[in-house]
Amino acid sequence: MKKILWGGATSSSQYEGGYHLDYKGLDTQDCRPYFPRTTHSTTQTRLLNKQIVNQAKAYQGVGNYPFRQGSDGYHHFQEDIELLKELGIDIYRFSISWARIFPNGDEKYPNEIALQYYDQMIKQLKEANIKIFITINHYAIPLYLIEKYDGWKNRQMIDYYFRFAKVLLDRWKDDVDYWLPFNEINAGYFSPYNGVGLMKDNDEDYNQSEIFQSLHHQFVASAKVIEYGHQHVKGQFGCMVASFCYYALTPKPEDNFKLIQDENYYQWFCMDVLSRGYYPTYMRRFFLEHHIDINVTQSDEELLLQHTSDFISFSYYSSSVVAAKAADQTAGNLVSTIKNPYLNATKWGWQIDPIGIRVTLNQFYNRYQKPIIIAENGLGSQDVLELDKTVHDLYRISYLQEHFQQIQEAQNDGVDIIAYCLWGIIDIVSAGSCEMEKRYGVVYVDANNEGEGSYCRYKKDSFYWYQKFIENYHQ
Ligand code: BG6
Repeated sequence: MKKILWGGATSSSQYEGGYHLDYKGLDTQDCRPYFPRTTHSTTQTRLLNKQIVNQAKAYQGVGNYPFRQGSDGYHHFQEDIELLKELGIDIYRFSISWARIFPNGDEKYPNEIALQYYDQMIKQLKEANIKIFITINHYAIPLYLIEKYDGWKNRQMIDYYFRFAKVLLDRWKDDVDYWLPFNEINAGYFSPYNGVGLMKDNDEDYNQSEIFQSLHHQFVASAKVIEYGHQHVKGQFGCMVASFCYYALTPKPEDNFKLIQDENYYQWFCMDVLSRGYYPTYMRRFFLEHHIDINVTQSDEELLLQHTSDFISFSYYSSSVVAAKAADQTAGNLVSTIKNPYLNATKWGWQIDPIGIRVTLNQFYNRYQKPIIIAENGLGSQDVLELDKTVHDLYRISYLQEHFQQIQEAQNDGVDIIAYCLWGIIDIVSAGSCEMEKRYGVVYVDANNEGEGSYCRYKKDSFYWYQKFIENYHQ
């Protein structure tokens, strides 16, 4: 049987910091303030309006803006890659900061110094024999592009994004094994500021047509990257969604039909377009009922059909429960969901469900019949650094052990799995709630929610467990 590549993942805005170094421009994530969870919900930290962004722009320094510091990867990447090498991972997923390469986003030429930062990373990863999986855009968008052009609702964004992507494809055409045009493309729907760079004037609701027009522009941009990539580049190209693994609350037909609708609209839609190459028919009714009117040209349709993804990928953290009528809710990745009485949840309310990853792998493979990369999975928790600099995260080891077992079961079910990437393999700032203390890593980064700490790296107990797991797996 084909061997699964075991790896890890981070994103530039959550990891790098150095928000103003070497000519980097300000991006959308640099403007998101941290608020304690006691006073603000995660959703509030994701839906930014002009006033909040203007305050952020006026503030010089890191202060209350944790993405400006990340886990200081910009200064620690060499040490971090050494740790990944020692860990023995097969593949590393990371993203490129758009505003580092094109500070405003609409410049003609890229920032060479920023490219050299990634050159060094790629060189070191190759020397360590770690395969490279690049996310071209993981949420962070140059702020100037959303202020001047209104983000992805403007079709011109396709050209600016493609200019950025082409620089990366040309420069690392022989080095990168897997390319992903966008992180969790369906996030644009739940989190329009992060996903598609739509900024509200005040606290009004988002305009649904603008959201879906923006998503359409990202679909076209993704197909353009795949078109160019297939002609000029060695690696394979994927698409990715956040997966939600829906269960119906009861056997009631109404709950089960609601399950199909939620799956269609929130999970399958984007992937149907990118992996099959056309808009699914179920969206016609959704668009009609939600008064959504978008512009899709014939040449867009042809492009989408001709340039679909080679592999599919998803993030999986927890499963969800669906009912036709409202019921008691808990939090999850990007969305909230009904509580499942059979599952435990993390401190953040995300329901832990190892069998859900097996369900998800089977569902995705049955639907698309394309190889799969699990682009993100892991446990966000509040770890304790002991006085002797150890971290006893036995709960993370159990989480990983149970999920890995189900992943291997899915492979035995016949699912074609390329790789598994453990999310936030080195502690990073949480994308949802801007907290440093929601940790996923097997490597601890000594910093708190206020950005205080040495930023030194320490191996957690899960580091040694994952190291042994990979070693045994390859024997
Ligand atoms: C995914 C994102 O939605 O979930 C990551 O792609 C994010 O960027 C991850 O970090 C976990 O979410 P959070 O909110 O716990 O950081």
